[in-house]
Amino acid sequence: MMQLRCLKFRTARIVRFSSLTIKLLYVFFLYFISTMFLFSCQPKDAAEPAASELWNVSAPEPYALKIPDKFSKNVNLPADNPLTVQGIELGRMLFYEKKLSGNNTLSCASCHKQELAFTDNKRFSLGIQGIAGTKNSMSLANLLWTNRFFWDGRAASLEEQALQPIQDPIELHQSLEQAVQKLQATDIYPSKFKLVFGNEKITAENIAKAIAQFERTLISANSPYDKYLREEYKPTDLELRGIELFFTHPIPQARLRGGNCGDCHLQITTAGDRNGFNGFHNNGLDTDQSLNIGLQAFTKNAADRGKFKAPTLRNIARTAPYMHDGRFNSLEQVLDHYDQHVRISETLAPLIREASNEPFPSPSEVKLYLTPQEKQAILAFLQMLTDEEFIKNPKFATPFKD
Ligand code: HEC
Ligand code: HEC
Repeated sequence: MMQLRCLKFRTARIVRFSSLTIKLLYVFFLYFISTMFLFSCQPKDAAEPAASELWNVSAPEPYALKIPDKFSKNVNLPADNPLTVQGIELGRMLFYEKKLSGNNTLSCASCHKQELAFTDNKRFSLGIQGIAGTKNSMSLANLLWTNRFFWDGRAASLEEQALQPIQDPIELHQSLEQAVQKLQATDIYPSKFKLVFGNEKITAENIAKAIAQFERTLISANSPYDKYLREEYKPTDLELRGIELFFTHPIPQARLRGGNCGDCHLQITTAGDRNGFNGFHNNGLDTDQSLNIGLQAFTKNAADRGKFKAPTLRNIARTAPYMHDGRFNSLEQVLDHYDQHVRISETLAPLIREASNEPFPSPSEVKLYLTPQEKQAILAFLQMLTDEEFIKNPKFATPFKD
């Protein structure tokens, strides 16, 4: 009797056990199928090849650049520096490489942090000795569509730009010869330069070319605003009003109210068809620009005094403080500037000088007269420009483990 009961108990347990196994198998099967499905759905280039696989080739592989929908096809890609998969990866390593600084403590990424849309959150960036410069770090996004770099436009290409911060005494502060020597002495770089540029002797020119290749892939095109343009996102009423105001030049006589921003910040949509110095303006920050003359420093033309690059407004909610000297801490302060505090000087942009929502503004002042609700709407639009996928894209993050 005892035995029988025990046997019964045993069989029951086996039955229970096996039904649990079946359930587990079933769950495992579902998991297996769904992961298979997920992987097969990912675009090919989203899966990063393991580092060894990437470098285990006999020649660099051409990189298939995708121009996002609604973006201009007119990109700045120099013929002597075509994008390759390995060139971009080498550029990414160099962008995060502290050996490019005199005391091995900073890299490009120290002042251009991905989570802050490649800015830092300092008014003035600190160089290797902890000494502050005089300019606010610039966001790096969609650089393929611009051909004048720095606040004062002094670099005409990313290749030319990249060598400046390395040598700048208050940035990375290192001679190009030293930078080259340090990389040459490593185990990792010579063979990679050999693969990408055909020569294992590293040169400053090739360092710049690789970094420029990486920078050209920093494309931001997935903000809610892009999705709205592609009809993948339905904006709120406030956002819609913000879009309208942002792109409208006010004509009070026709009762057309506007924020007048798109006149200079069009590159949000076309990503910078305004090439060259057309994109440089004096937006009324100062009456006297003797501290920083901007574009005039480069062109030596008095008409360019106080003109600065109108930077991309992509991810602008992440890149405070604002303006070439980081004088504003918030977007509210920026809007207040354009609305009530524009300072008049000889080179003030005509587009700003002429814009007001008042039919009869006093000739001695330049004010927009936006309502608090209108400012809220423009702010809501600026928030729409944050591209989380860009900020979190693992392809732009450090390739190093430290
Ligand atoms: C110490 C901080 C610092 C470091 C390090 C640094 N940058 Fe910058 N970067 C800045 C600042 C500040 C500006 C604006 C400077 C100016 O206009 O004079 C800038 C501007 C730029 C621009 C111009 C963007 C535009 O839209 O015109 C690019 C590109 C850039 N940096 C790339 C790099 C690269 C590549 C490196 C590494 C080789 C690097 N930066 C290292 C602070 C830094
Ligand atoms: C006449 C051209 C012009 C107009 C109109 C204009 N801007 Fe600007 N904007 C600029 C320039 C040039 C700069 C950079 C100025 C500087 O730093 O000296 C700038 C800078 C900014 C910045 C800071 C960017 C950064 O990375 O620090 C924001 C934000 C901004 N503008 C938003 C707006 C908004 C919102 C409007 C409309 C209310 C507007 N702008 C109208 C030319 C213009």
